Amino acid sequence: MAGTRIVIIGAGVMGQGLAEAISSAGHEVTIVDRTTKLAERGVKAVGESLDREIGRWGLTTSDKKAILARIHPSSDLSEAEEAEIILEAIPEDLAKKRALFEKLDQVCNPKAMFVTNTSTLSISEIAALTQKPERLIGMHFLNPVTKIPLVEIVKGLKTDTETFSKAVAFAELLDKKWITVIEYPGYVTTRIIVPLLNEAMHVLMEGVATAEDIDEAMKLGFGFNVGPLALADMMGLDVVMSWMMNLLGELSDHKYNPCPVLRKLVRAGHLGVKTGRGFFEYDKEGNRIASRLNGHAMEVTK
Ligand code: NAI
Repeated sequence: MAGTRIVIIGAGVMGQGLAEAISSAGHEVTIVDRTTKLAERGVKAVGESLDREIGRWGLTTSDKKAILARIHPSSDLSEAEEAEIILEAIPEDLAKKRALFEKLDQVCNPKAMFVTNTSTLSISEIAALTQKPERLIGMHFLNPVTKIPLVEIVKGLKTDTETFSKAVAFAELLDKKWITVIEYPGYVTTRIIVPLLNEAMHVLMEGVATAEDIDEAMKLGFGFNVGPLALADMMGLDVVMSWMMNLLGELSDHKYNPCPVLRKLVRAGHLGVKTGRGFFEYDKEGNRIASRLNGHAMEVTK
C-alpha cells in the first residue's frame, strides 16, 4: 500500500480520527470538507489530539510535526481525482451521501475504492447510484479511531472480492482487527450499543440516578472503559440521534426511538464534546470539566 493516494471526505469527528490514524501509519492523506476553514479546523483538532498523546508521553513534538505535515486540508473535491482510496465521513444522511458519491463517481479514477464509514445506512443503496457499485464498501471504524482496534468491514450486495481484499489490506495498514459483516442495519456494534445508550438516557430522564452515577455504575459494574452517557457525548449526540432515527425508520422497532432527553439536547445544539456540552460539560480541548448541570443534564444549576 506504500504510496497509495488516500483522500478523506468530511473533517468532523471521524474524518479527524481517520486522518490521524492514516498519517500516524506513515501515509500522506488529504482531508476535504465543505470549506477550507472546516478542513483546517479538522487538522487543528488532530493537533490537539496529538498534544494529549504528548502529555501522556506517548509521542514527541517532532512526531507530532511529522504527522501533521502528512495531512493536507482542502475544500476541493477534485483532490479525489487521482486517489486510490476515498473514505467518506460526512453526516449520517442518505441524501447527502448519495449526492457526494454521485459527484465522486464522475471525477474519480474508475479503479478507485470508495469506502463509506456509515453506521446505519445501506451500503447497497449508497452504491446503487455509482457506476461501479462493486468497488464501494463499508468500513465502520469507531471513535476514537486511533484507540479502537476494531473495524467492521461491510459488504454490500454487489461489493466484489477485489474491493473486499483492498479493504482488508487497508484495515491491516492501520493495524485494525477486522470482522466481516453482511449488510444489515446497524451491523454489529451500532445495533447493540444504540439501545444501550438510549436506555441509559431513559434511566437518567426517569430520575433513577445522576448522569455521573449511571456512567460510574456501568464502568464499575460491567467493566466499561467509558460510561454510556460520556460515550454518547464523545460520539456526538446529533450523530447518535441520526443512527436511532435511521434504525427506527428501517426496522420500525420502538427500542430505537430516541429518548426525549436526547431529542431535547440535540434541538438545543448541545451535541456533546464537540460543542462543549451534552450530558456533561467539556473545555475547548475536549477535556471533561466539573459540571454545572443538574442530574438531568438539562439545566445549569451552579
Ligand atoms: P461530524 O458531524 O462530526 O462531521 C461531518 C463532517 O462532514 C463535517 O465537518 C461537515 O462539514 C462535513 N461535510 C458535510 N457534508 C460534506 C460534503 N458534502 N463534503 C465534504 N464535507 C462534508 O460527523 P462524524 O461523527 O464524523 O460522522 C461521520 C460519519 O461517520 C457518519 O456516517 C457517522 O455515522 C459515522 N460514524 C461516526 C461515529 C462517531 O462516533 N461519531 C462512529 C462511527 C461511524
